[in-house]
Amino acid sequence: MRPARKHLAENRSQVCARDDETPSVIVEPKTIGARAFVVAEQRAASRHLIAAGIQIDRAHEHIAIVDKIIGMTASVFVGTSVDGFIARLNGDFDFLPAGGGEPHGYNEFMAGIDAIVIGRHTFDVVLKFSPWPYGKTRVVVLSSRPIDLSVIVGGVVEQMSGEPAEIVERLAATGAHNLYVDGGITIQRFLRAGLIQRLIITRVPVLIGEGIPLFGSLPHDVALTHIATRQFPSGLVQSEYAVT
Ligand SMILES: NC(=O)c1ccc[n+]([C@@H]2O[C@H](COP(=O)([O-])OP(=O)(O)OC[C@H]3O[C@@H](n4cnc5c(N)ncnc54)[C@H](OP(=O)(O)O)[C@@H]3O)[C@@H](O)[C@H]2O)c1
Repeated sequence: MRPARKHLAENRSQVCARDDETPSVIVEPKTIGARAFVVAEQRAASRHLIAAGIQIDRAHEHIAIVDKIIGMTASVFVGTSVDGFIARLNGDFDFLPAGGGEPHGYNEFMAGIDAIVIGRHTFDVVLKFSPWPYGKTRVVVLSSRPIDLSVIVGGVVEQMSGEPAEIVERLAATGAHNLYVDGGITIQRFLRAGLIQRLIITRVPVLIGEGIPLFGSLPHDVALTHIATRQFPSGLVQSEYAVT
């Protein structure tokens, strides 16, 4: 539901960017349901900050703060080699246990997800799976080029493109507040934008030397809070972190 106008007024972000003082953004979201508006306001405020010469990563920090305040959770649930690769350079993931391996929380994780956001490369891989692996969960494929979604049987799939903050804003506006972000490049872009709140990484006991990395360059350190590490009889080691 769209927020009422008086709520919009109550949720205004204040931008303070005069020449004689340090620019800052104060966000006072008083209405939880007005999340999409607050993010839009925050992005506008961030543009002011950027125009005022503040580093873009600082503006992104403010977006992340708003996300935490209002309750959006974007999570990563991924399997990697111990040396940090999610697939081989040719896209193969034969080093991961067949069929997902022993149960390690995927079904429980998926039960709390409103929408899965995957990059086009990951989509190209899962397209070959039969049946469609995500059931009726909403899937958003990110790509800057047209994708033929008519080939998918039984799935609920749409395409989006744009900055991660815009994607999150559009999803929040349509009721998706618990996102599963997947695909190396996609995860890295969301992390750089300060839009990932939770990382669940399951390490498979193998080194593959080279491949598609889970993580990449960042504009600044991303501090993590360790939530838990679980070990499984087959050798899987799963660590969960909150992005702080
Ligand atoms: N081990 C695991 O748990 C795991 C999990 C997921 C995936 N994988 C593997 O990882 C590989 C794919 O990862 P990847 O790093 O190559 O790529 P990816 O993140 O799956 O896809 C990257 C592509 O997504 C599109 N994209 C991403 N963000 C976008 C945005 N904001 N707006 C528009 N388009 C956007 C772009 O496609 P366009 O070029 O079309 O614009 C980009 O080139 C596959 O081999 C897959 O099997 C492994």
